[in-house]
Amino acid sequence: MTPIFKKVAIACDHAGLPLKKVFIKTLESLNITVLDLGTFTEESSDYPDYAQHVVTSLRNEEAQAGVLICGTGIGMSIAANRHSGIRAAVCNEGTTSARLARAHNNANILCLGERLIGPEAAKDTLLTFITTAFENEERHLRRLNKII
Ligand code: RB5
Repeated sequence: MTPIFKKVAIACDHAGLPLKKVFIKTLESLNITVLDLGTFTEESSDYPDYAQHVVTSLRNEEAQAGVLICGTGIGMSIAANRHSGIRAAVCNEGTTSARLARAHNNANILCLGERLIGPEAAKDTLLTFITTAFENEERHLRRLNKII
């Protein structure tokens, strides 16, 4: 299993905290450098704040990819996708979505909903996301260039 990314930024709101802890261990076990950008407590928090942290780290090239976890993954994706160059994909369906989000859409942020996906499926989805390369084909590039 060879990760595409060497540095990954991760963040969550209160609803995604347990899964974020599991993901950090998974990523570090693959020798990926993880930037943990919060939240760090179970206190209620606002997902746009944490989406912004991960977006900023990608735009500053401090990380090559991001992971955002909230209750559904939806709020995180809405917040992250407001920014140019960010392609955040909600992949609660699992590994097929994650594979295609990387291969066709060159997604650079994985969004998951801790309340909607089980821990094992979530881990498989993460591993698929970080090990699947973008298919660098003209048709994909042409489409992505329309949504910069
Ligand atoms: C928090 O209760 C919840 O609304 C949030 O985690 C997320 O699911 C929003 O999209």
